[in-house]
Amino acid sequence: MAAPCSDRILLDDWHIVADRAVLTEGRPFASRLLGVDLEVTRHGDDADVVCITGGAPVRSQQLYGYIWACLGTPARDIVHLPEAFEDDRHTVTGGSIAVKVSGLRAVENFLDMGHFPFVHTGWLGDEPHTEVQPYNVEITEADEILATDCKFFQPVASPTAKGGMMVDYIYKVIRPYTVALYKSNPLQPGRLDSITLFVQPVDEENCIAHPFLCYIKEGIDEPTIRWFMQLIFAQDKPILENQVPKRLPLDPRAETPIRADAVSVTYRRWLRERAVTYGAIPAAA
Ligand SMILES: [Fe+2]
Repeated sequence: MAAPCSDRILLDDWHIVADRAVLTEGRPFASRLLGVDLEVTRHGDDADVVCITGGAPVRSQQLYGYIWACLGTPARDIVHLPEAFEDDRHTVTGGSIAVKVSGLRAVENFLDMGHFPFVHTGWLGDEPHTEVQPYNVEITEADEILATDCKFFQPVASPTAKGGMMVDYIYKVIRPYTVALYKSNPLQPGRLDSITLFVQPVDEENCIAHPFLCYIKEGIDEPTIRWFMQLIFAQDKPILENQVPKRLPLDPRAETPIRADAVSVTYRRWLRERAVTYGAIPAAA
């Protein structure tokens, strides 16, 4: 029996428990959040969430095409994504992908440019362009991790890319289990497509990744955006599921980085300082 979550920062936050598109009117959908079994049921435009054990209602709301739940008392609202409200963008849910690993590992993998040439060969990277150039990492006033000036050569950066290009990236860790990236749009220089990875912590060693994409509409349709995301994530999934241990070690001496993955080091420290333990192996006291 897995230990219950006692991290207030997670209990008092909103997490996705279902993609609205998978719900059938009146038929309960089984979900699980932070080790708690839930049932999500759609009634017309509404949806309700209850605990399977005891049937107590759970706070819920809908946004971006998902049903969200908070098991505690919400300390803040669902992450606001300004680009989701821009009319010239497709907003696409990339499917709900179950991964047998801690969600913190999924976030860290999403931040890692170093794996592109090896895991996404021919798409997001290719030899000999394997070097991660130095980039900047800071903690913002909003208490987010922001990595800027990230650059990587990509053979097929996006379905609309015409050949290889140097792609500019910005990464943002918004919440412990939420991470976003912004990358150059191949057709509109200066504008960025965004992918936000909302990770549902099912329990400490299982998660569901819900990629949410806000892509500029020019030259691309929604099925193509979804296809590309699923192609890329299918390459990540087996790598993630082979991670040992399944939880993310937060001890600074664990898994000494072999390359300059500054954002990963910052992420682990940021989690430690915010007392996130769920899905992690906490640092020794
Ligand atoms: Fe990847």
